[in-house]
Amino acid sequence: MPSLKPVSRALVVSNDAAWLEPALSGLASASARLDNPFGIAFVSARTGDHAMQTVKADGDLQLVVIDKSLAGLGPGQAALDLANRINSWRPELSLYVVLSDDERAMVEELVSHAVDGYFDRDEPDYHGWFRILSAELAEKSATPFYDALQAYVKMAKDSWHSPGHSGGDSLKNSPWVSDFYEFVGENLLRADLSVSVPMLDSLLHPTGVIATAQNLAATAFGARKTYLATNGTSTTNKIIFQTLLAPGDKLLLDRNCHKSVHHGVILSDARPVYLDSSVCREFGIFGPVPKATIYRAIKENPDAKALILTCCTYDGMLYDLKPIVEAAHKAGIKVIIDEAWYAFARFHPAFRPTALECGADYVTQSIHKTLTSFSQASMVHVNDPEFDEHLFRENFNMYASTSPQYALIASLDVGRKQAMMEGYKLLDRILKLGAELRQKINSTGVFRVLDIGDLLPDEVRNDGVRLDPTKLTVDISKSGYSADEMEQVLFDKYNIQGEKSTFSTLTLLLGVGTTRSKVSRLCDAMFRLAKDRRRVPKQSYRMAEVPHFSRLACLPRSAFYESGECLYLLDDDGRPNEALTGRVCCDQVLAYPPGIPVLVPGQVITPPITSYLAKLLKGNKPVEVHGLADIDGEYAVRVLTQEELEAAPSRSLFLQDDEKAGDGDRQQQQKVQQLEQLPVPSADSVTEEVHD
Ligand SMILES: Cc1ncc(COP(=O)(O)O)c(C=O)c1O
Repeated sequence: MPSLKPVSRALVVSNDAAWLEPALSGLASASARLDNPFGIAFVSARTGDHAMQTVKADGDLQLVVIDKSLAGLGPGQAALDLANRINSWRPELSLYVVLSDDERAMVEELVSHAVDGYFDRDEPDYHGWFRILSAELAEKSATPFYDALQAYVKMAKDSWHSPGHSGGDSLKNSPWVSDFYEFVGENLLRADLSVSVPMLDSLLHPTGVIATAQNLAATAFGARKTYLATNGTSTTNKIIFQTLLAPGDKLLLDRNCHKSVHHGVILSDARPVYLDSSVCREFGIFGPVPKATIYRAIKENPDAKALILTCCTYDGMLYDLKPIVEAAHKAGIKVIIDEAWYAFARFHPAFRPTALECGADYVTQSIHKTLTSFSQASMVHVNDPEFDEHLFRENFNMYASTSPQYALIASLDVGRKQAMMEGYKLLDRILKLGAELRQKINSTGVFRVLDIGDLLPDEVRNDGVRLDPTKLTVDISKSGYSADEMEQVLFDKYNIQGEKSTFSTLTLLLGVGTTRSKVSRLCDAMFRLAKDRRRVPKQSYRMAEVPHFSRLACLPRSAFYESGECLYLLDDDGRPNEALTGRVCCDQVLAYPPGIPVLVPGQVITPPITSYLAKLLKGNKPVEVHGLADIDGEYAVRVLTQEELEAAPSRSLFLQDDEKAGDGDRQQQQKVQQLEQLPVPSADSVTEEVHD
């Protein structure tokens, strides 16, 4: 096993040889004589450009010391200029500037947020400098919660508190369940502790090691405040809504947002304004909401309190966020970005800017999805200048378990440390592996990794959308295998499990745990499968068009909490039930894939919606449909009764003019039918387009 001691390079930049040589040898001798747990070794550069080359190429670089002598804009200014350049490329690096005593007065003027500290050129105390650099790395790489957890476990205290397994003691001598002890390991059980241990702080009221871990995370991710969360981004999205939105407040949201966002709408009693996302029907993949749609929604809803978008999308599509955030801010709208799939972006310039760097007020990240943390370990980053910390805390505590899993918190500490200390290096490796994989898969001539041009729906082609290269969407349509068959063969024969599939694509995620061996095995499998390709049937499939959003008749919460009544989706002849037309749905109904809600609570049901659902359920390809009721083995939709609808407190917000005038229900039904007969596909055309 190779040594796992870290290597940390420190770059000293100066064009003054008379200063540089003694500085380098003084620092090297200090590193040899003093304790050097991070393996700091010094290298040099003579110019700013040379320094930048090293910053880009050396993944083990942790520190840069810049001498004021750099030729350029005046004493010290060139050094700070370089510090800013380095910072915008790799913000995680620690930067020190060396100035003379007589320039000290300038420091305040020159001070740059990029710089972590200054050394005095006239006081070349290399031992002292080395100690400071080493301490800087100790601070950055600290894992305060994980350290305290380890320390506590090592103390071997007797447990007279929850959890009931008492560090695994209930398991280890049991003839029935000791295998679980062996399987998960002693440390995981010993570290499964509770708020009864004060030295481990409290996730619900952090003042000690968890507070310190949160501060370190905020620095690492570039936030004013960061919160560690153990209930996933599914929960943190809801916490933010409940902090920002009072009942009835308007929220602009991508209709394709994760279901937790839609649940958050119900819980916060917000008034949603749904924005239809773009869709690439050829491959069954949803893209961003068109910029024009977002700008229009901002213009038409200046009273909206918040906008939430997913960036990147599940398939890796990234908005050009900055102008969108600016437009929202101009209208006084807070911006929440669901970065569940993009937590690593801060640590390599190929992926930046992050949502926070684009000015987002709240960012939620599933650290567990793409970095090294256990499932459910997430973070919320806050940059909102008007952040109401007290309210956020109250909402956080309302959703958080009072028994958070401590291994998850420790894994957030470790995930953040790894991203900070070696994220650049790991991501650089992933980018190279991804490019190699892409090239090899394409060289099969049968499989093809789709690029942004293939995936971008027409309506967002000019929106500056980018693609995250760690998410590979492979077109398998020429192989003759269906996606389900392909996934099964990869699993059974080649021991490979991908992320997801559509009818013609397979998605593979590269991550910090991707190894060269896994890449080789995948390439081998793809080559063999390409050789075994089958004759491809002539017809080509397109995803059925998800019906456009119809309209709300009341707030989602008002509909969700009513009892409602259930109406069959199909009539006695097996046709879409016309009695559903004009009725108001109580539940969120979504088909997976694609995962976009076809109906949300409070939404008026239209004929294309019933046809679409009926066709999905009758198709040959099994589709999961969530939110339908089961009445005697038949699918049914829970809808508001007329009395419930009329009594809904939020009803008046949505009354159409003709409904206000009376005779509302019948007129509303007629209107919906007329409207829906115009541009949307008929039931039959939807039918033909569904892949089955
Ligand atoms: C866009 C998006 N947001 C939020 C979530 C929920 O994240 P978590 O699994 O951390 O609860 C997911 C999960 O897949 C997601 O895709």
